[in-house]
Amino acid sequence: MALNPNEEFARDNVLRRAAEKARTYIEGLGERRVAPSHKDLENLANFREPFPNAPTDSMQVLEMLDSFGSPATIASTGGRYFGFVQGGTLPASLAANWLAGAWDQNAALRVMSPVAAELEEVALRWVTEALGLPQNCEGGLVTCATTANFTALVAARHALLAQAGWNVEDDGMFGAPPIRVIVGDEVHASMLKALRLAGFGKKRLVRVEVDGQGRMCANKLPPLNDRTILCVQAGNVNTGAFDPAAEICARAHEQNAWVHVDGAFGLWASVSPKYANLTAGFGHADSWATDAHKWPNVNYDSGIVLVKDGLALRSAMTMTAAYLEAGALREPMYHTPEASRRARGVELWAALKSLGREGLCSLIERTCAHAQRFAEGFQDAGFEVLNDVVINQVLVSFGSAEVTHEVIRAVQEDGTCWCGGTLWQGKSAMRVSVSSWATTQADVERSLEVILRIASKFSS
Ligand SMILES: Cc1ncc(COP(=O)(O)O)c(C=O)c1O
Repeated sequence: MALNPNEEFARDNVLRRAAEKARTYIEGLGERRVAPSHKDLENLANFREPFPNAPTDSMQVLEMLDSFGSPATIASTGGRYFGFVQGGTLPASLAANWLAGAWDQNAALRVMSPVAAELEEVALRWVTEALGLPQNCEGGLVTCATTANFTALVAARHALLAQAGWNVEDDGMFGAPPIRVIVGDEVHASMLKALRLAGFGKKRLVRVEVDGQGRMCANKLPPLNDRTILCVQAGNVNTGAFDPAAEICARAHEQNAWVHVDGAFGLWASVSPKYANLTAGFGHADSWATDAHKWPNVNYDSGIVLVKDGLALRSAMTMTAAYLEAGALREPMYHTPEASRRARGVELWAALKSLGREGLCSLIERTCAHAQRFAEGFQDAGFEVLNDVVINQVLVSFGSAEVTHEVIRAVQEDGTCWCGGTLWQGKSAMRVSVSSWATTQADVERSLEVILRIASKFSS
């Protein structure tokens, strides 16, 4: 290893070369296949070597990564990736990521990184404002919505058990007063995992009937009380539908139940006056989980948890040791399951600063309009759209389950765009999730043309 770090970085200009390669990668996204070719996947075998004995020059490491790694990526940061719910990365967010990479800050405590702590605090305040949540919320930046859901549940668990006279941090869950957890029948799998991790077994959950869009039927709620956690959803992963939060929150709070919102992507609809009616009432909940790596197009990973009762969150998450000196200001790690962590707030701040409320609103509205265009295109061609396209999610069936699967497989193989599959209330469908800032109308038309050409071949 070189003894002089400056020389090591300067030698061969490895950072400059990395920036050039990244630029070439991004410039090539418009024309390359979205999914890698078979050959690109085969080339991944080049990485399968024994742990090398001798050091390798940084430039060679970079060359290898670009030669065999870049082609084997999924071009999800381009304009024609419609899988799962994935945003691309905004230029400001990516640029911030590079600079923050050079900073290599540990965002656990303010004393470890004043700038990380500050930007995290500012970004959390902006998110709270953008989403129309109570301004005194406290929150943390975590990896993803799954962890955000988990974090919020652990805060809820603390608060409800404390009210019942039980200190869960001291006494644990064995023998604790039982907590009832209520979810909708179309709850996201990540919520179930988060509940499992927080000590609430799957079999103990009460599931509430949903309608054809996956919305919880408020009139089917079981009795609630002050030992109930009620999990609602802002944006179903398949349909994009929203639970009737206003009614549910009002009912829950009459009984002092805790309402948690899984708003992984849907909560961001509230920044648009056009879609804000869908998110009405979610601000009355007690905790929220969302992702900035989905609709706001912050680079991975960027999960966010917010809790109205900040003391509950901090009581559940704080860890102390003599050497981990806390200051008078907000300490990031008192709000998250992790201690050492990367400075996610830098990219979140950069993305929100670069977009502003107007940019975020336009991103939301643009992607929703693209989703509408997909839905119209499918319907005009005679295919069934299974959901009410309320935001950026479209479910389309091409006929039987077999035909739909064949179409999905062929679309993925073609490489022009990428869409995944799902099963919606017993019916197979292709999912089109328009979540990237980079998607243009031309991308939509080009993708639609390919999907319809493939579908007509299989369904004729
Ligand atoms: C409603 C909902 N909740 C949770 C998640 C999980 O998100 P993550 O993969 O960031 O944990 C998703 C992912 O799409 C989602 O749509």
